[in-house]
Amino acid sequence: MMSIEGLEVWYGKILAVDGISIKVENGEIVGLIGPNGAGKSTILNTIIGVVKPKKGKITLNGDSLVDLPTYEIIKKGVTIAPEGRKLFPFLTVEENLLMGAINGEAWKKRRDSLEFIYSKFPRLKERRMQLAGTLSGGEQQMLTIARALMASPKLLLIDEPSLGLAPKISLEVYKLIKSLRDENRITILLSDQNAKRVFQISDRAYIIENGRIRMEGCSEELAKNDEVRRVYLGL
Ligand SMILES: Nc1ncnc2c1ncn2[C@@H]1O[C@H](COP(=O)(O)OP(=O)(O)OP(=O)(O)O)[C@@H](O)[C@H]1O
Ligand SMILES: [Mg+2]
Repeated sequence: MMSIEGLEVWYGKILAVDGISIKVENGEIVGLIGPNGAGKSTILNTIIGVVKPKKGKITLNGDSLVDLPTYEIIKKGVTIAPEGRKLFPFLTVEENLLMGAINGEAWKKRRDSLEFIYSKFPRLKERRMQLAGTLSGGEQQMLTIARALMASPKLLLIDEPSLGLAPKISLEVYKLIKSLRDENRITILLSDQNAKRVFQISDRAYIIENGRIRMEGCSEELAKNDEVRRVYLGL
């Protein structure tokens, strides 16, 4: 479905992504695992067109995304729940959700999208008139993902969903992410430093270090690898 080949991304003189190739098939959950500064967010931000690559191809079902502006990429069915949530704290939950639908066709379908989201996230429905900045960390993360669903993505990118969350809450967020694939057939590419969580729900994963792929494979196999266990799972 989505394919990245030989991606190279620079910030001025800093090489952040150094020749990475990644594939995501329809219906998969694929994880990007790696320490601070590995290049995970850069990869996701490049797919969504916020960051432009120096080299490499990114295609969605064969169509190139590289030269498209972000709103066109969203129209093609890719959305992002960004790192650090990036909500509008002084807008309500519902207003934040509607911000995820201001793009093109999504606005026409906003009522159906809201209905779907409120059935999927009953807690957001209860709190729909509450200011986003007053939600708990877990609720804010749910809202970030829900906002990204307002444009009906086929491929959902999620950057560090467990950031700053207590283990119990991050588990709840991860279960929800898995259900988006299992029940709503949304393909997911997510990044997290929390390898344990990623392995729990992903089919395949890439371990990124210094802008390069260190290891890749089926999550079940990776989670058994000695080095992965020691470095990423602390076992
Ligand atoms: N806007 C920017 N300007 C300059 N350098 C940047 C910028 N964004 C990221 N970098 C650099 O690019 C490299 C990769 O950063 P990136 O944010 O992609 O890593 P990450 O794997 O998402 O890390 P984290 O786990 O901390 O979120 C880092 O060295 C970082 O300092
Ligand atoms: Mg990041």
